[in-house]
Amino acid sequence: TLPRVYITRQIPPEGLKILRQSGEVQFELWDSDDTPVPRKELLKRVKGVDGLVCVLTEKVDAELLDAAGPNLKVVSTMSVGFDHLSLDELKKRGIRVGYTPDVLTDSVAELTVALLLTTSRRLIEATHEAKTGGWGTWRTLWLCGYELANSTVGILGLGRIGVAIAERLAPFKVKKFIYTDVVPRPELASAINAEYVSLDELSKQSDFLTVCCSLTPETKEICNRNLFSKMKNTSIFINTSRGGVVNQEDLFEALSTGQIAGAGLDVTVPEPLPINHPLFTLKNCVILPHIASATYTTRNAMSALAANNLLLGLRGEPMIKEIKQ
Ligand code: GLV
Ligand code: GLV
Repeated sequence: TLPRVYITRQIPPEGLKILRQSGEVQFELWDSDDTPVPRKELLKRVKGVDGLVCVLTEKVDAELLDAAGPNLKVVSTMSVGFDHLSLDELKKRGIRVGYTPDVLTDSVAELTVALLLTTSRRLIEATHEAKTGGWGTWRTLWLCGYELANSTVGILGLGRIGVAIAERLAPFKVKKFIYTDVVPRPELASAINAEYVSLDELSKQSDFLTVCCSLTPETKEICNRNLFSKMKNTSIFINTSRGGVVNQEDLFEALSTGQIAGAGLDVTVPEPLPINHPLFTLKNCVILPHIASATYTTRNAMSALAANNLLLGLRGEPMIKEIKQ
């Protein structure tokens, strides 16, 4: 009989088509609605499966892997982030892990630029004013923001996405790109002429600071009071990576006291962020519901890549994109 696969969410059609047409697996899908499968249900459904396709709302931890049992050979996540996966537990059990980098780089970079400009030019406030009667007359300093021309853009965690963001921002006449990471990344940095600096310098020099790192124990709440206190009060903070890299109480304080000028967040803790959260009360904070990779092209490509990774893994072949550990 064919390997059994559980898919934790209604994934875009490309991936399902690949799995169906392969004829190599039988799969079951959580498709009762477009929300995460309840944990209890998930623990039941994974029993005995050979493969698991998941998204970032599912915690793949010891409990889940134990519930699945010893047949499980491959976990394929439809995401570039992997903080929802307990990699140690997966490794211990010899389970291979696929993920979906690269195919989302363009869409995430585009959204990051959009969020940056939305925040720095105060577009949400502006449309709100325009349609609610605040637009009394043209005023000289009303809704003024900050421009990219002649600015210094700092990238916290330089990878494929950071480079793609810088490539898109360069035509806005950015003066200088700087970045920090655990080690210098000269091959990536040279493509965008970015200078390696310490986290301290990144905080001090950046007019726009954009976070592009993975969430790991090392980067958890790396953006905290200490970092914000070094930033200029004219600077804009952007995060399209994971909410966990930010201490949100410290960010709230920095935004509400004018320590920094604004923040644009595509990711928060928790997700969804409760609508009564203090960050939602701030005019200088733009919050999006984790949509950076949300284009039809990208989500279908992620779905297809997750499906192909899964099939390759189950065949015992190298995956297209595998987390090697
Ligand atoms: C989205 O956040 C992803 O990790 O793909
Ligand atoms: C703005 O619209 C200007 O004319 O300066």
